[in-house]
Amino acid sequence: MKRTLLSLGLIASLLFVFACERKGGPGAGGNSGPIVIGYYGDLTGRTSNFGQSTKNGVEMAADEINKAGGINGRQVTILSEDDEGRPEKAATVVTKLIDQDRVVALLGEVASGNTLAAAPKAQAAKVPMISPSSTNPAVTQVGDYISRVCFIDPFQGAVMAKFAANTLKAKKAAIMLDFNSPYSRGLTEFFEASFTKLGGQIVNKQSYTQGDRDYKGQLTAIRSTNPDVIYVPGYYGEVGVIAKQAKQLDIKAPMLGGDGWDSTQLWDLGGDALNGDYISNHYSVDDPSPAIQKFVAAYKARNGNVPDALAALGYDAMMVLADSIKRAGTTEGPQLKDAIAATKNFIGVTGTISLDSERNAVKPAVVLKLQDKKYIYVETIYPEGMSAPATSPAAPATSSTESTTAPGSSPANPGTAPAPAKAASPAVETKKPAASPQ
Ligand code: PHE
Repeated sequence: MKRTLLSLGLIASLLFVFACERKGGPGAGGNSGPIVIGYYGDLTGRTSNFGQSTKNGVEMAADEINKAGGINGRQVTILSEDDEGRPEKAATVVTKLIDQDRVVALLGEVASGNTLAAAPKAQAAKVPMISPSSTNPAVTQVGDYISRVCFIDPFQGAVMAKFAANTLKAKKAAIMLDFNSPYSRGLTEFFEASFTKLGGQIVNKQSYTQGDRDYKGQLTAIRSTNPDVIYVPGYYGEVGVIAKQAKQLDIKAPMLGGDGWDSTQLWDLGGDALNGDYISNHYSVDDPSPAIQKFVAAYKARNGNVPDALAALGYDAMMVLADSIKRAGTTEGPQLKDAIAATKNFIGVTGTISLDSERNAVKPAVVLKLQDKKYIYVETIYPEGMSAPATSPAAPATSSTESTTAPGSSPANPGTAPAPAKAASPAVETKKPAASPQ
């Protein structure tokens, strides 16, 4: 009996010591030894391209940092967890990375719904989290330990609304949304607000849920309202199938989407049915800027494929984190989160990254046209108050045959901080590429 009490006491004090250690300073070894960073994403499941590509980008950045001597002399170790694209699992793996692996910071997730489920765990434990690519505004509203290196959806929704109304001259739009996804619901709301403000009309709205296979009922209803464009703010797993079924129903109106379409796997699902559709995204691989072309070449050599926006944002998130640790001079959560929030004019692959007072990056978006299994650069749209760099690079090497529109500047040049400009109305400004020399 006495012995049992004694060992219970021992276990209790050991638990106490562990608990104190987590509180006193997260990360294996405090301020010496390797810097342990947690990555979480969907490495398996329906949109596993998201998690895999991002992981490749994060690891490539970590390798480059380590080869160059690490951060303040310390090497970086990335511990990765698969959340299978499920919100509950995202919260579980983040809890494991925090409590068991004692990571000093977290990178992830891609899908806003998964980040929203995991972020409260990081906030409660005071472990800074940077989402590379979750664009729903609520993500960073979870708390001051949560930030991101991408633009947010009020902007992304307005970008496509403006493109639809001004460039495609669309008057009537239908929307097909992924009902349970915060990302899709947010984009629907923001697109709708901007499109109607520009004089357009939403003629029909339909919804689906992830994993559905038959969209013909919704598409038939949409067809009967004869829209000029159909906005589908979903993820590639469903969008490819939707595009195919729309063509089977002889729907001619182009479909418009957001960054959630970005995946090479989209083509396996949608094939030629995607030709003539458009998406908004974070960067274009065709951007001739040397910084982007260097990244694209290095990524191709390492992974054997062209980096999508996810890979580029994963790379940028890791680089911004490393830069913040360097500036903070410590991996302690409270100081590190302040250093991340103070990020200004960081030259990334996806543009110049400056975080606003809500820890969201303010950056331009690109519009890409889908044609023959390629995402072709069409134009760059800037947030209000930001304009194209004064000295813009030449037009992308592989321009769309239809991009013979007004001359102007090319995609955001990550080597140049955009010059501030007068506030524009509406909230976005467009720049088109110069016609490509044929
Ligand atoms: N922005 C999407 C979201 O918030 C995720 C995403 C980003 C998907 C970039 C593809 C490319 O849910």
